[in-house]
Amino acid sequence: MARSALLNVMVQAALKAGKSLSRDFGEVQNLQVSVKGPSDFVSQADLKAEKIVKDELLKARPTYGFLGEESEEITGTDGAHRWIVDPLDGTTNFLHGIPQFAVSIALERNGEIVAGVVFNPATDELYTAERGGGAFLNDRRLRVAARKVLSDCVIGCGVPHLGRGHHGKFLVELRHVMGETAGLRRLGAASLDLAYVAAGRMDGFWETDLAPWDVAAGLLLIREAGGFSSDMKGGQDIFESRSVVAGNEYIQKALVEVVNRPVPKA
Ligand code: IPD
Ligand code: CA
Ligand code: CA
Repeated sequence: MARSALLNVMVQAALKAGKSLSRDFGEVQNLQVSVKGPSDFVSQADLKAEKIVKDELLKARPTYGFLGEESEEITGTDGAHRWIVDPLDGTTNFLHGIPQFAVSIALERNGEIVAGVVFNPATDELYTAERGGGAFLNDRRLRVAARKVLSDCVIGCGVPHLGRGHHGKFLVELRHVMGETAGLRRLGAASLDLAYVAAGRMDGFWETDLAPWDVAAGLLLIREAGGFSSDMKGGQDIFESRSVVAGNEYIQKALVEVVNRPVPKA
């Protein structure tokens, strides 16, 4: 598997930030027993990881723009390129000592994602993709699962929580999807959820109220693994609508239909 110079820069940045997160994750596990918990510590870990990624990427390409979850957007003088970064996706998992979190880095060129990296330092799983070059988990080429009917499928989702999302709307979606599928999962890190769809571990995924840094890298992984993605309405306004539905060609379409079914009559 040959990686371009740019993808190598992204991988190095993700590995370096991942190392820092790994060290801090060890400490978080110790802090669980304190009454205050590790939340301030985790915010620092998050900021530290973003700084590492940002420094690495901007050192390699100083003219590119930078959109990261934890800092002000930098427009960049280049005009065509923008990094889109979530330094710690799955913060709640991280905070609770659950090893399902990732560094997510995407490169956008003229509005299209052309490279993506999602790295879970707790499992040492590195997902990479370049436009037209396939998607990989470490050295293994990825392909989305082939199941054609929802009744055979395990589907991932995001569950809104205190202060986030539209709870009533989600319950309607859930009611429809759970009645049609073999199982539902809520793993808690959207970038990895999409990577799992790319890897064929989950057959599909839907979530609303997501930011570009949650999904940018994962969307390319899915596409390069032969999968499809859309917004909740089946269109391509994923960033603007803050929603995503993903799967193979059959399951992605079927999921769009199911999540949009009307509220059942009482
Ligand atoms: C969150 C995770 C989670 C999703 C949330 C995101 P964060 O990102 O991706 O799975 O359900 O909507 O905000 O806050 O952990 O970076
Ligand atoms: Ca996130
Ligand atoms: Ca984050």
